[in-house]
Amino acid sequence: MIATGIDFVRAARRVREHIGQRHRYIHILNVARTAVRLARVHGADPTQARTAGLFHDLARLYPAERLLRECAERGMPIDGFEHANPIVLHARLGAELARDWFGVGDEAILSAIRKHTVAAATMSPLDEILYLADGLEPGRAYAGRAEMLALAFDDLATAMKAHLSEALAYQRERQFTPAPQMLAALDHYAHMEPALSECEGLREKRSA
Ligand SMILES: [Fe+2]
Ligand SMILES: [Fe+2]
Repeated sequence: MIATGIDFVRAARRVREHIGQRHRYIHILNVARTAVRLARVHGADPTQARTAGLFHDLARLYPAERLLRECAERGMPIDGFEHANPIVLHARLGAELARDWFGVGDEAILSAIRKHTVAAATMSPLDEILYLADGLEPGRAYAGRAEMLALAFDDLATAMKAHLSEALAYQRERQFTPAPQMLAALDHYAHMEPALSECEGLREKRSA
């Protein structure tokens, strides 16, 4: 865990050297900052959020064959979806690199890194924070991003449901096969109880 600002600067420098691409490094810093802001609002640990953000994309620029090879060398199971779409392995491999290279032993942080690309049926608030920060950081340019980020500040689970629905609609439009974990995640969020704020919104509408 990165306990101090000096540790963060040192670790960030190593991440920047490893990534070697300005665009991706700026994304990483944006994700870390957005994750910290979300953590503060939702009562999660900002240090865990910042650490998860800084290390989430360590393997993002690896070509497909390297992702498959390094995961296989580590004895990591690779499912059919991952074989067909090796890019998603950067999340699980990235967690391994965060542990090996930076000594991240906190399972909560490693879980958030592993789940940041395809989500999962069961997600902790920190998992949700990193997933949403990754998709909604200010460098992402698409219609509705800022509104969705505002929703994430308001309610994590509602934002997860909205973000997953949009991501799956986008993939279906392009006839991409969605990750099974993503479908399981949407199934979970689609069936949860509405958030208190949503209930209050409905009540207001009914009484109007
Ligand atoms: Fe990523
Ligand atoms: Fe990312």
